Amino acid sequence: MTGKFITLEGGEGSGKTTNRQFIEDWLKARGIACVVTREPGGTPYAEKIRTLLLDHQDEKVDPLAELLLIFAARAQHLASLIRPTLAAGTWVLCDRFTDATYAYQGGGRQLDMTLVATLEHLVQGTLQPDLTLVLDIDPAVGMARASRRGSLDRFEVEQTAFFERVRATYLARAAANPARYRVVEADASLDCVQAHIAAALETLL
Ligand SMILES: Nc1ncnc2c1ncn2[C@@H]1O[C@H](COP(=O)(O)OP(=O)(O)OP(=O)(O)O)[C@@H](O)[C@H]1O
Ligand SMILES: [Mg+2]
Repeated sequence: MTGKFITLEGGEGSGKTTNRQFIEDWLKARGIACVVTREPGGTPYAEKIRTLLLDHQDEKVDPLAELLLIFAARAQHLASLIRPTLAAGTWVLCDRFTDATYAYQGGGRQLDMTLVATLEHLVQGTLQPDLTLVLDIDPAVGMARASRRGSLDRFEVEQTAFFERVRATYLARAAANPARYRVVEADASLDCVQAHIAAALETLL
């Protein structure tokens, strides 16, 4: 029996990383072992690509080069961590996955969505998350939260319109496939957000 694959999505400061531990604990309390990971990254090699993607560069980064690096990191992550873990029957919780690529590179950077879909198929085959939690928040509220953490990365310095496109892409993808997605109102108390997440997790048991 393969493990279930859960992904956490949403804009800057929506609470993805904050809620990872809650989900891990919620599953553990029900006897379910879960490996928590993140993208871009998740393995030593893929984390090196993450650094390339998030650090500021002296040179303008071509959006296609960025997209290919994201999928290169994802191929490594799938091969060395995600697929073997799921195959061993352990669940995987991933902080951002391919929906983020549609949202940021497709929506934000306005690359052709069919290009993202082509690479998704190449790298993932038929593998898709069993559940994707989209933490939805007004980008201004999320950025205010995220900027309290300190310096901004290469994505966080984008303009409001970029983040509005990211948000709209997440919501459109969720609306188009309600069986896989749960949209969680993230501009709410942590208790409220976690109650919604728990209700979504119940559907996987
Ligand atoms: N429901 C909430 N109410 C208030 N503050 C919150 C809530 N959820 C998270 N935060 C705070 O917002 C900040 C950003 O949260 P977090 O790092 O989890 O976001 P993120 O979605 O992982 O962001 P990023 O995309 O930048 O990694 C943290 O300081 C966190 O404590
Ligand atoms: Mg985070």
